[in-house]
Amino acid sequence: MSILFSSTGWAAEGEWPLHGGDAGEQRYSPLEQINPGNVADLKLAWSYPLGSKRGVEATPIVADGVMYTTSSWSIVHALDARTGKPLWIYDPKVPGAAARKACCDVVNRGVALWRDRVFVGTLDGRLVALNRRTGEVIWSVVTVDQTQAYTITGAPRVVKGKVVIGNGGAELGVRGYVSAYSVTDGELVWRFYTVPGKPEHADEHSEVTLARKTWSEDSLWETGLGGTVWDSMAYDPQLNLLYVGTGNAANYNRAQRSPGGGDNLFLASILALNPDTGTMAWYYQTTPAESWDYTATQQMILAEIEHRGVPRKVLMQAPKNGFFYVLDRETGELLSAEPYTEMNWASHIDLSSGRPVESAVADWSELPRSIMPSMAGGHNWQPMSYNPKTGLVYIPTRSEAYLFYPDPDFVFRPLAFNTGENFPALDEKIADLSLRQCSPTQLSAWDPVAQQMRWQETMPTTLSAGVLSTAAGLVFQGRGDATFLAYDANNGKTLWQVATNTPIVAPPVSFSIEDEQFIAVSTGMGGGSLAFNPSPYENDGHMLVFSLQGKATMPPRIARPARTLNLPDALVDRVENGSSSAAIEAGRISYIRYCLVCHGVGASNPGALPDLRYASKKTHDEWLAVVLGGLRQDQGMASFSDSLNVEDAGNIQLYVVSRAMRSRLWYSKLMRWAIDKVCIPSSWIVD
Ligand code: HEC
Repeated sequence: MSILFSSTGWAAEGEWPLHGGDAGEQRYSPLEQINPGNVADLKLAWSYPLGSKRGVEATPIVADGVMYTTSSWSIVHALDARTGKPLWIYDPKVPGAAARKACCDVVNRGVALWRDRVFVGTLDGRLVALNRRTGEVIWSVVTVDQTQAYTITGAPRVVKGKVVIGNGGAELGVRGYVSAYSVTDGELVWRFYTVPGKPEHADEHSEVTLARKTWSEDSLWETGLGGTVWDSMAYDPQLNLLYVGTGNAANYNRAQRSPGGGDNLFLASILALNPDTGTMAWYYQTTPAESWDYTATQQMILAEIEHRGVPRKVLMQAPKNGFFYVLDRETGELLSAEPYTEMNWASHIDLSSGRPVESAVADWSELPRSIMPSMAGGHNWQPMSYNPKTGLVYIPTRSEAYLFYPDPDFVFRPLAFNTGENFPALDEKIADLSLRQCSPTQLSAWDPVAQQMRWQETMPTTLSAGVLSTAAGLVFQGRGDATFLAYDANNGKTLWQVATNTPIVAPPVSFSIEDEQFIAVSTGMGGGSLAFNPSPYENDGHMLVFSLQGKATMPPRIARPARTLNLPDALVDRVENGSSSAAIEAGRISYIRYCLVCHGVGASNPGALPDLRYASKKTHDEWLAVVLGGLRQDQGMASFSDSLNVEDAGNIQLYVVSRAMRSRLWYSKLMRWAIDKVCIPSSWIVD
């Protein structure tokens, strides 16, 4: 049974009133009009251009015939759910410079609804209450220290008159927490810190004191230590417990982060909190002394399933570390845990202690190690779905390795990735990265009782997308090759598919209006894969809504324009005459530190953002104005004058030119590697 409880009371049948469909976040629709027998007739009913060129990860909320969704830059759209007609749009005007704080694109995962209000968290750390009918601001509070690298990309949840919101930023170095604000006026009610603060400050609450005992005194306090609550929450109204998933460490290398050891609570943990006070009822740490970016911020599903023949109230999670966990959600007791994807970092979970048994290759604090799952995880933020009828959990999984490369000379750099990895060395080694499978992403149907795979479909690209399952026995998921599909929930057989205008990463939802069932999903590639996934299409994000009576036309696939090299002669000469190799190497290191996350490996960007090798003559002329002067700040290209000087910016430009000059050779090497290892369709190779 799904817990169909919304903050407004019991939700009407056929709505999608809460982020995960219901408070237990099952992402299961009880609607049955669209079924395996007629899904082949599913057609587009309407589409709506989100005006977004970046990643779209939102789950729409549908209630009273209105759809509330978000696009990149935390922009909220209220649409007539039957026609797609826009009712209002709220743009929080996030400053372009905030993009530098986001590890993984300027995405947003959606809003929360409560009575006359809509709540959204903005990339720059605000929590905003909007009038549900007009989109006007009722109140707005700043939830973070905006001088630090905090972002909000997760959807708020409303629980008992409070709106709960966390934040992200652990890659760049911040201290994690989750806060509850009064729905009425935005007053802070409680805040729970997930890791201890600097020792000279008093502990904010007793759980911080408990956590502090698991850190060494000379921990890397300046990195904030991480543990950010950037996505996952679920609520059990009967037990009155709010479940919160916490993120990875800052920095990743535990030998540097907390010399001498310790479990480093509450990194990578599931916390059960009393939503009235924020006090902790229990915790379960999935990855003690987290060292691989193994967040436990993946979606948690509350359900009743059997354990040893007895029905139990459980919490299920497939966090990045590759184990599928079933916990008793009243007590936090671990009931079972088995690998749902390939892994080499641990052999198993010891059920008596609840701890993973790490393997010899897991520790990369001294030597580079190739670890599975990768830092992208066996499963990332893309929501999974539990179907009580089939008893299966449908998980967007990944199976790949990542080379963790320690940086013995780590120093904290504000607004840069502070993970403790040696990225310049990794960059040189990239061709050696061994992804073991042809395609690293799958849709996996997991039996949580038997802890076994029932079926698995392999995806054609490296992108993963969120999942919906329905009572009629269908599973819906988008794909990275710009396709949206329906599968048979029992065996994974493809029953329907449609070509979309651009790739999908967002999760679908279902709702019904006047006896017509709709399936909705957003297109728009991005997130952590922003700079790495090739697509031949303009990243023109749309909301797509399908029904059996649909008659609309799919928005067109727009081919990306052909690109040409426009390299300044003076810089070409400098690269060719060989005198500038030190400057190019300095540029490479600065590029990797400050530009790679958005502009791609080796200055090549097959994804949605500019590939700097093909910059226009005008851009080359304006290079310093763009990189240091903030000329394109409003478009998300912030100034780097706080971290780089004129010489650094010039060296980066020289490095980019050197890359462009060897691009054909280098790019084909990268692509050969990609085709061999991850099966990017060759038609997508844009060079
Ligand atoms: C947080 C993401 C992000 C980071 C990090 C970033 N950029 Fe950008 N950059 C962008 C975006 C978005 C654009 C496109 C802006 C536009 O639409 O005009 C852009 C555009 C540019 C352009 C213009 C390209 C063209 O062809 O028009 C240059 C040059 C540039 N970036 C250089 C850099 C350099 C150098 C660095 C590192 C110091 C860097 N960027 C880091 C997001 C980023």
